[in-house]
Amino acid sequence: MATTAIARHDVRDLGLAGRGRLRIEWAESEMPVLRQIRERFATEKPLKGVRIAACLHVTTETANLMITLAAGGAEVWVCASNPLSTQDDVAAALVAQHAMGVYSIKGEDEGTYYRHIRAVLDARPTFTMDDGADLVSVLHKGEAGDISRVIGGTEETTTGVVRLRSMEKHKVLKYPIVAVNEAMTKHFFDNRYGTGQSALDGVIRATNVLIAGRTVVVGGYGWCGRGVAARARGHGAQVIITEIDPMRALEAVMDGFRVMPMAKAAREGDIFISVTGGYNVIDRRHIEKMKDGAILSNAGHFNDEINIPALVELSGGKRRKVRDFVEEFTLVDGRRINLLADGRLVNLAAAEGHPASVMDMSFANQALAAEWVLKNAAKLKPKVYNVPEDMDREIARLKLKAMGVEVDRLSREQRVYASSWQSGT
Ligand code: ADE
Repeated sequence: MATTAIARHDVRDLGLAGRGRLRIEWAESEMPVLRQIRERFATEKPLKGVRIAACLHVTTETANLMITLAAGGAEVWVCASNPLSTQDDVAAALVAQHAMGVYSIKGEDEGTYYRHIRAVLDARPTFTMDDGADLVSVLHKGEAGDISRVIGGTEETTTGVVRLRSMEKHKVLKYPIVAVNEAMTKHFFDNRYGTGQSALDGVIRATNVLIAGRTVVVGGYGWCGRGVAARARGHGAQVIITEIDPMRALEAVMDGFRVMPMAKAAREGDIFISVTGGYNVIDRRHIEKMKDGAILSNAGHFNDEINIPALVELSGGKRRKVRDFVEEFTLVDGRRINLLADGRLVNLAAAEGHPASVMDMSFANQALAAEWVLKNAAKLKPKVYNVPEDMDREIARLKLKAMGVEVDRLSREQRVYASSWQSGT
C-alpha cells in the first residue's frame, strides 16, 4: 500500500505525512465496518478502472475511505469540501504514502478552494463523491472536467442533497447520484451523535468555556440540532431551541427544551450554535440584542447561517483575533460578540469533525454506494437515489457485530404472527 510515488498535489507540507499516517491508523482502529469493506474490495476490485474525484472534508476518517476506494481498484483524487476543514497532515499522507492527487490546504481562500475543485475535475474523473455539492455544481456549470465521462456519484450531506434535488427538479442533473445522507445508518448517527459531540467539541476547544450553567441556543431541531441540544444539556447547559417547522418545534418542547423565536433567544443566549442549513438564521436584528460576550458558531454546511457582514458593520470593523478560531467584534456600544471559525463548520474547523466510530457507518455507505452505482449504472437515470434499504440494514448489522452487540431474531411463530391478519383479541 505505501508507496514513494508522489502524485500531483497542492498541500501544506509533505513533511507532515508521518504524523498524518499515525492519525489515519488511529482512526482506522475505530472503523471496523469500513475495514471489512476494504478487505473485500482488495480481493474483488469492484472499482477497477474508475477514477474518483472526491470533494470531502480531508480528515483521518476521509483518508480511510480514500484508502478503501483505492484498495477497490480506483484512482483517487481529493479536494476539500470546506476551506477550513482540511487536516494538513492527512492531506500530506495521502500524497506521500498513497500516491493520491490531493488539493487541499487548511485556511485556503475561496479562490484557492475553487481552483482545487477544478484541479481534481481536470483529472477527468468518471465518478464524483461530494459533500455539499460544490464539486457537482462546478462540473455541471462546465467550469472544469468533462461531464460526459462521469458514470455516477454520491453525496454525503443534507445541504448537498437539497441542492441535488433542486438540480433534478430543474432537469439539469446529468448523472445518477446516491444521497448517502438519506441512509438511516448515516443521518441517525452521524448527524445526531456525530454533530452533537463534534460541535460541542469545536466550541469547547476554541473557547475553553464551561458549558454548565450557560444558556445554549441551538438553531434548528433536525438530526444535527437534536444531537447538539442533547449534548449541550448533558454538559449542564440550559438549552433553547429555535425552529421554523411546527413538528420539530413540538418535538423539541416534548423533549424538554424551551422553544422560542431567535428574536427572543438572542437576548438570553450565551452560546449560539446554528445547525439549520438555512440563511442568516442569526441576523443583524438578533446580534443587536445579544449580551456582551456572546459566542456565535455554526455547524451547518455553509458559512451563511450567521450574518457576518452585519456583524462587521455593527462593529464598524473593530475586530481582533483573541484565540485560534475566535474573533472578537466590538459593537459601537462596547458589547463584544465572539465569532468562532469565521462562521464555518465549527466542528471541523476548530476540532476534528465527527469521531471515526460514527464516520465508519457514513463512509461504509459511501464505499458501498459507489460500488452499487457502478454495478447498476446501465439501469440508472440522472436522478437522486436513496441508499438501498438492504445495504443500510447490513451496515447496521455489521456495526452491531463489531460492537459485540447481539440482537434477537423472530422465531418462525413470530414471523407468521407478524404477517397474519386472523389473530386478534
Ligand atoms: N463530516 C463531519 N465529520 C467528518 C469527519 N470526521 N470526516 C469527514 N467528514 C466529516
